[in-house]
Amino acid sequence: MAELSINGATIEIEASPDTPLLYVLTDELLLQGPRFGCGLAQCGSCSVLVDGVETRACITPIETLTGKNITTLEGITQYYAAQTGLPRASINPLQDALIEEQAIQCGYCYNGMIIKGTELLLDNPEPSDTEIRRAMNGHLCRCGTYPKILSAIKKASQKMLAGVEQNTIPADEESV
Ligand code: FES
Ligand code: FES
Repeated sequence: MAELSINGATIEIEASPDTPLLYVLTDELLLQGPRFGCGLAQCGSCSVLVDGVETRACITPIETLTGKNITTLEGITQYYAAQTGLPRASINPLQDALIEEQAIQCGYCYNGMIIKGTELLLDNPEPSDTEIRRAMNGHLCRCGTYPKILSAIKKASQKMLAGVEQNTIPADEESV
């Protein structure tokens, strides 16, 4: 039995210590954000943040994650709000921009694009095209929407810089 901190909650895990985190997230916790793509750390569809750093859950045994903070797609909006001090919104600016740009087709890469894109924008709020391409290089989109994903990240950057939070939930409507 292991204990993991996932999206701000401490959770007891029954899987053996050498189990890759992805299987725990999908099979034991039934989360639908992280996805199995290659299983070889090559595509990014399984990505999570571990202490704020994008990590491939498909090759990361849970025994290496004790005492670390894991953020999945399900917790990324809360994580973004905590890191920026901005009001909690229903979606973060990158999710908002991806929708506005209609950047996602089948959606299989969506998890990794959000996780990596959020890490990038928190680390570098105004990345150049080259910096975006370099950061997102390990995230594969089989639908080939890369130009729109790049546009969405640039749009999200402008939203963040302007402090714009669309779809903000009024404080009195927030759930705990
Ligand atoms: S499934 Fe983990 S990187 Fe592809
Ligand atoms: S939208 Fe289909 S894999 Fe990226």
